[in-house]
Amino acid sequence: MPSFLDPDLRRALAERVRYCHEMGIYDFYWREPRTNASATVQADADDPALLPSQELRDEELREEMPAKRSVVVAKDANENILRVLAPHAEQNVTDPIAALQLIREDLGECVRCKLHQQGRKQIVFGVGNPRAELMFVGEGPGADEDTQGEPFVGRAGQLLNNMIKAMGIRREDVYIANIVKCRPPGNRTPERDECETCSPFLMRQIAVVKPKVVVALGAVAAKNLLAINAPMSELRGRFYDFIPAGAQSSDPSWQGTKLAVTYHPAFLLRDPRQKGEAWKDLQMVMKYLGLKPPKKDE
Ligand code: URA
Repeated sequence: MPSFLDPDLRRALAERVRYCHEMGIYDFYWREPRTNASATVQADADDPALLPSQELRDEELREEMPAKRSVVVAKDANENILRVLAPHAEQNVTDPIAALQLIREDLGECVRCKLHQQGRKQIVFGVGNPRAELMFVGEGPGADEDTQGEPFVGRAGQLLNNMIKAMGIRREDVYIANIVKCRPPGNRTPERDECETCSPFLMRQIAVVKPKVVVALGAVAAKNLLAINAPMSELRGRFYDFIPAGAQSSDPSWQGTKLAVTYHPAFLLRDPRQKGEAWKDLQMVMKYLGLKPPKKDE
């Protein structure tokens, strides 16, 4: 949160952003102030067909909808809206390792949501190649991840490793993170306010890594990244154009960045019959990235 922002201006700005969200406008960019020092937030509605409207986030959203951009998930929390829009320490840092480190430092010993007092051992930030072309996003740390401080290191992680290997790449080649960085007690689904509080940091990680494809693992990741509510059967099987909230939608380097949805590995452990479907999703991603499955003896 920039300290120069007058509280009244901050409130007004948050109101304006909320108003835009209710209009179905989610992409914003900074414009230099014309007169005094206050920042102006301008909605980028250059391509309204690509902007999701409020109704599209309702239950009845259906597969035939056009490709959607990522949106600011926060709707009710002013602080979150402003955190996404505010300039960040890593913004002009070109080395992604240093940039990710700055985000980690900004996160600190986070107490922004209630998960910090519900038994988390540590924050699970994310792991992998800071220049990865492929990024996986899960739901939130489980017990093993909470203990080891790394995403997807338990049984679901072993399956994810196998899925990555089947794509002809290694775990070290990709970047892996979660919607929330602290373990929800009893592995419950992270709640909306927890996701909204945490996701600005994930968006910043995505903006730094700049993968060509983000794969959302499971419905929680998909719904949060896309800010839409639809069953997995409708979310899977296609690419979505994706720009992380807070990134400039006019930045041409985001062109071609895609998001795909597949089943969460923990779900596949419970229902292995769906592995074939997940493999179809991964094959779609492989084709886009030009990846070939390893030869039998590799
Ligand atoms: N499940 C997740 O969603 N994330 C992890 O890191 C581990 C299990």
